Amino acid sequence: MALLEIRNVARHFDGVRAVDNISLDVASGAFVSIIGPNGAGKTTLFNLITGTDQPTSGSITFEGQSLVGLQPDQFAGRGIARTFQHGRVFGNLSVLDNVLVGAHTRRKASRPRNMVVEFFGALFPTAAVKQEEQQLRQEAEAIIARFGERLTPRINNPASSLSYANRRRVEIARALALQPRLLLLDEPTAGMNLTETAEMLEFIRELKQQGLTIVLIEHKLSLVMELSDRVVVMDNGLKIAEGAPEAVRNDPRVIEAYLGNKQNTRFNRRDAENTERFNHRDTEDTERRQRIDD
Ligand SMILES: Nc1ncnc2c1ncn2[C@@H]1O[C@H](COP(=O)(O)OP(=O)(O)O)[C@@H](O)[C@H]1O
Ligand SMILES: [Mg+2]
Repeated sequence: MALLEIRNVARHFDGVRAVDNISLDVASGAFVSIIGPNGAGKTTLFNLITGTDQPTSGSITFEGQSLVGLQPDQFAGRGIARTFQHGRVFGNLSVLDNVLVGAHTRRKASRPRNMVVEFFGALFPTAAVKQEEQQLRQEAEAIIARFGERLTPRINNPASSLSYANRRRVEIARALALQPRLLLLDEPTAGMNLTETAEMLEFIRELKQQGLTIVLIEHKLSLVMELSDRVVVMDNGLKIAEGAPEAVRNDPRVIEAYLGNKQNTRFNRRDAENTERFNHRDTEDTERRQRIDD
């Protein structure tokens, strides 16, 4: 039994088949990437796996238990964490508090809820509560320190004051604070420059080496090719190819769908160009979002 099993999953929006009959297995410890043109249905598939959205049909199981119908806040308890394509952090909370949200969510998920105990615990924290708080804080600081000097010097700054790249790091740190067994990353390097992307590649590689099961949506194909055990290609809601990175890279259907033309061009030659295009889009997004945040 695979850790994550997706069977004939579809999500239709008023006639748009955003996800159309997708089946996919992710074994424990595997690194699977999902690629495909914009609008292929990649993010929608993540939304279905993590309860942000519900499938029109099909089944999704994690460790043999169905995920369909669960609320997003129940996923931490199952050991599933995700990040969002455009990054989601609590702008008014500090870097540390953002990550502590992840740690607290895990702690709550691992315990039966008792509102009375929680209420009095918050009013009159006992030594045990204080000690636990201290422990969660240390855990959060350790996760933040994994990003080197990127976040630690800003640990008490509000997330809204951070660069886009740093906000994305905070979001990943918060996901890791859930201590997930499955991590879903939606375009973690979007909006990042070459140095930042290389750094993120190393970071994700470490997570993989530690045995974390990862599903990655990513446009930067060099990164996908380097990290993945298996690559799944989506187009128009369908899975059009699946296999080892090299096999997928040279699959003519993939080249045609992904590049949107019939030129006889290899992925790697167009990779830089694609990255550039997507980065451009992301930069515009970033600027727009920053204006909104400001
Ligand atoms: N909430 C929604 N309502 C209607 N259409 C949607 C919704 N979410 C996604 N879609 C559509 O589903 C398709 C797949 O989108 P998405 O999953 O975001 O693609 P990708 O992440 O591969 O770029 C697109 O055509 C998109 O417009
Ligand atoms: Mg997407």
